[in-house]
Amino acid sequence: MKILFYGTKNYDERFFSRILPDFPGIEMKFIEANIYEETASLARGYEAICAFVNADLSAPVVRALGREGVKLILLRCAGYNNVDLAAARDCGISVLRVPGYSPEAVAEHAMALVLTANRHTHKAYIKCRENNFALNGLMGINLYRKTAGIVGTGKIGQAMARICRGFGMKVIAYDLYPCKDLDFVTYVSLDELLRESDLISLHCPLTEETRHMINEESIGKMKDGVILVNTSRGGLIKTEDLIAGIRDHKFFAVGLDVYEEETDFVYEDMSERILQSSTIQRLLSFPNVTMTSHQGFFTEEALSNIAETTLENAADFMNGKPLKNQVTA
Ligand code: NAI
Repeated sequence: MKILFYGTKNYDERFFSRILPDFPGIEMKFIEANIYEETASLARGYEAICAFVNADLSAPVVRALGREGVKLILLRCAGYNNVDLAAARDCGISVLRVPGYSPEAVAEHAMALVLTANRHTHKAYIKCRENNFALNGLMGINLYRKTAGIVGTGKIGQAMARICRGFGMKVIAYDLYPCKDLDFVTYVSLDELLRESDLISLHCPLTEETRHMINEESIGKMKDGVILVNTSRGGLIKTEDLIAGIRDHKFFAVGLDVYEEETDFVYEDMSERILQSSTIQRLLSFPNVTMTSHQGFFTEEALSNIAETTLENAADFMNGKPLKNQVTA
């Protein structure tokens, strides 16, 4: 099976090439270009393509891949909200993903954002380098004995709940399907979570139901001085309403690893360019907002697991085995 890797970074190539000898019959070609309607034709002659979270796999692109003879889309990520699954089904293309490659990687990054946004370590580091040892602007709050509200207690949310418990926090959660193993967590309604939490961390997937779940109304229900962290998907937050809430001094701190409009920026060095997105610029202008570039997954362990599961998915497809990681419309 020949797989064309779109949007390849040097670390993708390193981790996938390392384990290729364990998967006889699979050939890989890595290209830097990401997948768009215009680049779909590069997949001619490939049975499978491999794409990441920032790929455009909307219906026209999926249909273009179908016309090139692609039968399999291998997502080297967990989320699949960027794939038009109905178009894939209509074109006879199977879509496989990598669920839960390292929930701790994302949860640990979520806590890193909480700590950075709360204690301003990013600013303290720069100040100290400039011989500025004053503490102005660096005050945080204790997490100990505060309440953490976890929205979505799947694999990552559970890992975040355990980390928050380790900090001595009371942990409450909201999920459509509560997890019975989390005996230290109290499940509450979303309204109660918004009302009671000092820290709100988002870990549910982006769906029609969850899109813009953090909006003017839900922000209005939050405690004043809440810390909000999103490492899930940008679309969970209505950014304009978040900006209004920040201006109203609602938040002590906001940490964002994901944000609306990120697709055009994420994983690219734009430092020499004048950004056209005013939303990201506005978010970056606030002293209590900390942003990273969708890097929650980015650990050695996670990349190893992603490479291994992606090639196992490809081998299962090639060998006609059951597709345990298939996502369907
Ligand atoms: P998961 O599928 O294990 O858990 C998702 C949980 O959300 C489930 O318990 C589900 O019942 C719950 N849920 C679904 N709809 C809900 C709703 N309307 N309200 C409340 N809860 C709801 O997923 P996992 O692995 O924990 O990942 C969560 C999300 O994290 C992914 O969907 C993805 O968007 C994001 N992610 C971000 C990464 C990053 O690098 N920043 C890396 C990997 C995933």
